[in-house]
Amino acid sequence: MSLALPSSELSALLPDWLPRQRWFAAKGREVRSVEVAASTPLIGGGDGDGGRDDLLLDHTVLAVEFTDGGPVQHYQLLVARRPDGRTELDHVTIGWIDGRIAYDGLWDHQVSDWLLDAIRAGLTVSGEHGDVRFVPEPGAEIPEGVSGRVLGVEQSNTSVAYGEKAIFKLFRRIAPGINPDLELHRALRSVGSDQVAALQGAVEGTLDGEPVSLGMLQDFAANSANGWSMALASVRDLLAEADLRADEVGGDLAGESFRLGETVALVHDELARALGTSECDPAELAAGMTARLVSAGAEVPQLADYIDRIRVTYDALAASGTPVPAQRIHGDLHLGQTLRTPLGWLLIDFEGEPAKPLEQRVQPDSALRDVAGMLRSFDYAAFHQVSGWEPGDFSDPDQESQLAWRANEWSARNRSAFCDGYAKRAGTDPRAHGVVLRAFELDKAVYEVLYETRSRPSWVPIPLASIARITADTDAGD
Ligand SMILES: Nc1ncnc2c1ncn2[C@@H]1O[C@H](COP(=O)(O)OP(=O)(O)OP(=O)(O)O)[C@@H](O)[C@H]1O
Ligand SMILES: [Mg+2]
Repeated sequence: MSLALPSSELSALLPDWLPRQRWFAAKGREVRSVEVAASTPLIGGGDGDGGRDDLLLDHTVLAVEFTDGGPVQHYQLLVARRPDGRTELDHVTIGWIDGRIAYDGLWDHQVSDWLLDAIRAGLTVSGEHGDVRFVPEPGAEIPEGVSGRVLGVEQSNTSVAYGEKAIFKLFRRIAPGINPDLELHRALRSVGSDQVAALQGAVEGTLDGEPVSLGMLQDFAANSANGWSMALASVRDLLAEADLRADEVGGDLAGESFRLGETVALVHDELARALGTSECDPAELAAGMTARLVSAGAEVPQLADYIDRIRVTYDALAASGTPVPAQRIHGDLHLGQTLRTPLGWLLIDFEGEPAKPLEQRVQPDSALRDVAGMLRSFDYAAFHQVSGWEPGDFSDPDQESQLAWRANEWSARNRSAFCDGYAKRAGTDPRAHGVVLRAFELDKAVYEVLYETRSRPSWVPIPLASIARITADTDAGD
């Protein structure tokens, strides 16, 4: 029996299997076909390591076509095959192929162990469609003898934790070019950053003749808590104490928000040092924001009352004539992209905004866009729980409930602490750039209004109330 992966048999099984995977990005769209665009034998069947215990492993790149005629998407899959099934792998089983059971190999300990060994050894496997290269970072200490376990979290890629030593992320949807998550972690390692989990290694390949990032291995942040969960716990604590103010309850987050502001400022400084700085044209920035506002306004009637007031800020940005300092940034910064370890904050996931094409995500941008993303996140954390209890119009002072008032107070307190921390490390206060910062906050809130209208209409009041607040500040001056 041939050991080579029969592409046509795999292709036949995938249109049913792929859309059911948590990481499949095109949920709800009908898949027309899945082609195996590239396949490289890693274990058995080729010039890999000759197979162990009947395990075969192939690295595959899948080209997915849709019946709606949209552009082809590429995904990555490590296809493992064994002569017989294993119950613990049932949930990732693709089906029988040529007398062997095929499944997503990341869940097989033997596969995840092999991956770690391959990175440590700096293995290169040559295939028909280019090499798959496992690359340790110079000087990195890659752990040995620890088993991998796939994280059970909702995510768009798939991550495997090796004890509390390392974490490997296999990018699922891939596009030609270096993934900014890998690129920026590499750059931050080069300047010795302590604000991110240090890069240990990567897996790289070729797609359409260009280099492509397939995965990355980093230090595991042991005993860490996610910033979003910490913020929700703090808000819950506040709302449970009817008579206390945000600064009086045990779960007050302001100290942590201040430290997080410091961390973000340090990362911005490190990215600027590693990858340089440039400038953006304010009129161009404002034109993009205005175009997004106009198209959101056409879809969301509730925005109508705010459009002119939002445009005041965008017009002021356009007219300012002052170039906006630019550099590489995180690009999708919010509380969910932070981990609090016992030592301090780390920023994670530098992939940038998932909806943007790669060539846009790698462009220099204003650091204030990241600051604005975090400020928006504090508002979301504050109102996340209130909105569950009292869907309503939080922007109307007559209707503003006690809960909403206190949520607002929590958000203002933490936004302010975050900016104070940022200012301390950056040397300039982000609030000193009022028009630019407000424009980024509004741009993000407009995007949120559109997103919520499409997916969770009862949440639309959260970004709308923020728009009301931010534009009221505009009316009051800078
Ligand atoms: N260095 C680390 N140490 C420990 N846990 C981590 C580390 N990096 C990430 N994680 C955990 O893994 C989860 C997923 O990581 P990450 O956000 O990088 O993946 P992603 O697939 O890009 O997610 P998303 O779909 O949200 O973009 C995080 O929520 C976090 O809990
Ligand atoms: Mg991501």
